[in-house]
Amino acid sequence: MTLATPAPPPARDAVSQSARRRTFAIISHPDAGKTTLTEKFLLYSGAVAEAGAVKARAGRRRARSDWMEMERERGISITSTVLQFRYRGHVLNLLDTPGHRDFSEDTYRVLAAADAAIMVLDVAKGIEEQTRKLFEVCRSRGLPILTFVNKYDRPGRDPLELLDEIEEQISLRPTPVTWPVGIPGDFRGVLDRRTGELVRYVRTVGGSTAAPEEVVEPGRAAREEGGEWERAAETCALLDEVGATFDEASFAAGEASPLFVGSALTNFGVRHLLDAVVDLAPAPGPRADLDGVVHPVGSSFSGQVFKIQANMDPAHRDRVAFVRVCSGRFERGMVVTQSSTGKLFATKYATSVLASERSTIDEAFPGDVVGLVNAGDLRIGDTLYDGDPVAYPPIATFAPELFASVRALSTDRHKQLRRGLDALDEEGVVQLLVDPVGDRTPVLGVVGQMQFEVAAHRLEHEFGAVVELSPTAYRAVRKTDEATAGLLRGEPGSRILARRDGTLLALFESEHWVARLESDHPEWCLERSVV
Ligand code: G4P
Repeated sequence: MTLATPAPPPARDAVSQSARRRTFAIISHPDAGKTTLTEKFLLYSGAVAEAGAVKARAGRRRARSDWMEMERERGISITSTVLQFRYRGHVLNLLDTPGHRDFSEDTYRVLAAADAAIMVLDVAKGIEEQTRKLFEVCRSRGLPILTFVNKYDRPGRDPLELLDEIEEQISLRPTPVTWPVGIPGDFRGVLDRRTGELVRYVRTVGGSTAAPEEVVEPGRAAREEGGEWERAAETCALLDEVGATFDEASFAAGEASPLFVGSALTNFGVRHLLDAVVDLAPAPGPRADLDGVVHPVGSSFSGQVFKIQANMDPAHRDRVAFVRVCSGRFERGMVVTQSSTGKLFATKYATSVLASERSTIDEAFPGDVVGLVNAGDLRIGDTLYDGDPVAYPPIATFAPELFASVRALSTDRHKQLRRGLDALDEEGVVQLLVDPVGDRTPVLGVVGQMQFEVAAHRLEHEFGAVVELSPTAYRAVRKTDEATAGLLRGEPGSRILARRDGTLLALFESEHWVARLESDHPEWCLERSVV
């Protein structure tokens, strides 16, 4: 008897390990199926034996932890989590964006730590509002995007119409890798354009275990599926003709998106998508620092803070900084330097963060996320390094869309309010805006209503200031300069506020109003990008 030689374990250096990593996020509108798909990823990776574990864990978490009362009261997850699992010898880091109906800047910032994104669309709905917003952030970061058209097991829209919608609405060129055979609701499977074969749709009861996969050669597919197969084959020929075929360069540039169809609920297409994450999505790559110097993944340790979470654990009242490793090997206990201050930071309490459950992490490689506990002085965007100094460009601040003025209900709480607002602004929970010349009442700027609620809750419970938030009528914002600000102060329906860093923002009651001002005064400084 001969014993097979086991494959040697992967080398533990940063270059070999980062080549095995894929760090990605899922972007979608609520209800498109992100949670279901996440659950199925874990099922297919063998991380859970039966689907349902993600929701079950969420239930357990709610029952067990009250690190943020609001999360428990509402049964939602306000903070992002990172799921790490193995698939085909690779380590996949799935950065989960908050799952609530309303999103926040955190959702955007998580994308700063990803190397790729999966855009999940509901076949009946197509591109929806939150998908579009998240997509814009991916585009601004040049992230490659894989598209998954979900819920094919039930009635939906014509797939060609969906392709047009994607291209027209977000200027992303879909390049289908699998194409549906049958219509949504009467789904027979997919034509895999790479092989020309039919992958038959087999329903699994409840989708709790991996779906069996039946691959059918084209001749038999034509006999068995008749007209439906012919229609799919004709459409694929048409797609070939118009060049809607996967192309690595345009995918990497974020211009074209390989598209897969399936049904997360019944597990169909899940494996295709996971394989695509491994085969198509990029491994962590070199990064340019502020001076344009490129740091390869194999250089000494560097990482960037992309999220700060305060008070995750009520027993400790601490702050956790989530750091994406950019280069080198992270080792728990190493002392790293914070680039913005030059201060040293001991990483004794590094954790991996899965929801609010922590486990100590001993080492991490490019693409991984490490949670650093007691990160009192760390700020979003900070670079940490060991060895050669490096500072990566800051993480973009996003244009707030909703504004509310804030005041303490009790007049003797001003100091607490001020301290609380400064802390929340630094953490990136809200953007603190103040009128540099007029009314000094602070204004909070956010991208999602939930951020107001989190801020009010934390101001009361952590800083001892019960506040009243008064929504304002402003709905549009532009970056401006001193000269234009001076002129705008005379205009009705607008207001000038300053960020902590001095950036001047002009707020308007409607986009329509801005458009008019822009056309009347083309010389004014009104930049749409407020970064
Ligand atoms: P989200 O995280 O993007 O908000 O979506 P989630 O996965 O929670 O899915 C939203 C709803 O859509 C869920 O139904 C889920 O079961 C359903 N769903 C997800 N994928 C598919 C699919 O491929 N086909 C069909 N038919 N449905 C799908 P629910 O009734 O809101 O919740 P539940 O009671 O099933 O948990």
